[in-house]
Amino acid sequence: MLVKKAIYPGSFDPLTLGHLDIIQRASSLVDHLVVAVMHNPEKSGFLPPATRAALILESCQDLGITNLSVLVDSGLLVDLAKNNDTSLIIKGLRNASDLEMETAMAQANSALLPGLETLFLTASGQAHGISSSLVRQIYAFAGNIKPFVPPRVAAYLHTLQIQTQPKT
Ligand code: COA
Repeated sequence: MLVKKAIYPGSFDPLTLGHLDIIQRASSLVDHLVVAVMHNPEKSGFLPPATRAALILESCQDLGITNLSVLVDSGLLVDLAKNNDTSLIIKGLRNASDLEMETAMAQANSALLPGLETLFLTASGQAHGISSSLVRQIYAFAGNIKPFVPPRVAAYLHTLQIQTQPKT
């Protein structure tokens, strides 16, 4: 059976060029891609989930990706898959430590929902070293984040920086 819909979950805090690469390639594999901004209990949030979702949608629109929706969910991924009537999760793999962690998550998810498959796309070359926390760290030190994030994210974070700068 061909899968028409897939979910690409993550915390996307914020969206990076690495995520966007996976979204672009995943959206060409299925009729409809659901990008899900989800809660990772091990992480404290930086941007509000609704802002992360808006930046994903706008960045995808900029690239002309139309067969996708973006949602925010704070529950279990397996429940989201059930509610969206899909049995396919797509995730990106950057390196060996991703593989270890992602394998554990994929196995847990398929134990919770038999039949749920996780498909891994390997990150393309330039995305290997990117992560959201790296972007957050560069941003915190007022460094240049433009090489790592889509223009929408860079513009939003630049505005945020100006708004939160202490007034002298
Ligand atoms: N390019 C750039 N960075 C990437 C990337 C790519 N292709 N793929 C992953 N990353 C980065 C992410 O930005 C993230 O960076 P950070 O740790 O600096 O924030 C890191 O790699 C890990 O990404 P990911 O494995 O997608 O984890 P996540 O925290 O973004 O998302 C959830 C994890 C939200 C999908 C997971 O916690 C979840 O499913 N939560 C719902 C609750 C649930 O069902 N839990 C049980 C799961 S078994």
